[in-house]
Amino acid sequence: MNDLRDLLRYDIQHLYSAEEQIIEALPAMIAKANDPRLKQALEQHLRVTEQQRDRLNQVKPILGEGANSGNKGGIFSGLLGAGSKSKGIAGLIEEGQKAMAVDMSSAVMDAAIIGCAQKIEHYEISGYGTARTYAEQLGMTDVAQLLQQTLIEEHDADDLLTSLAVRDVNQRAEVGADMNSRGGAL
Ligand SMILES: [Fe+2]
Repeated sequence: MNDLRDLLRYDIQHLYSAEEQIIEALPAMIAKANDPRLKQALEQHLRVTEQQRDRLNQVKPILGEGANSGNKGGIFSGLLGAGSKSKGIAGLIEEGQKAMAVDMSSAVMDAAIIGCAQKIEHYEISGYGTARTYAEQLGMTDVAQLLQQTLIEEHDADDLLTSLAVRDVNQRAEVGADMNSRGGAL
């Protein structure tokens, strides 16, 4: 890599890998979530994540990667091949999977899922913020706009998870409440 544009390409590939891994991991988190609003938020984020992956596919040709080049040649294929996945996201997902395998009351499980999802969001917020700023520096307004759009979505998802945790889930987890016995209090 010789310049900032190369570094941006490199970072975009890792973000792409991150989105792919998140798309794969979210269904298990949705299945384990108990609070219907948490389940809904994660389902919504799965759809949004698929759009974010598609957005990165729009970025590829702008950065000089053929839109239909698939996995044949080019820096994207090189880094997205075997062993090139984002290990940061892989670690966070693995950590979440380990937590979800522990026997927990339903409210504690929800709190744990939110914690795991927010670590993933923060990782993405950091990655997209950096890449967006590189694109701005390079005068690549279209790329910067696409990345900024995703960055806003990641912030929104993070805020929604915070509000679910603070307003409700953490309180139920504090007393070990069972989602199924909460009645109509919510
Ligand atoms: Fe994302």
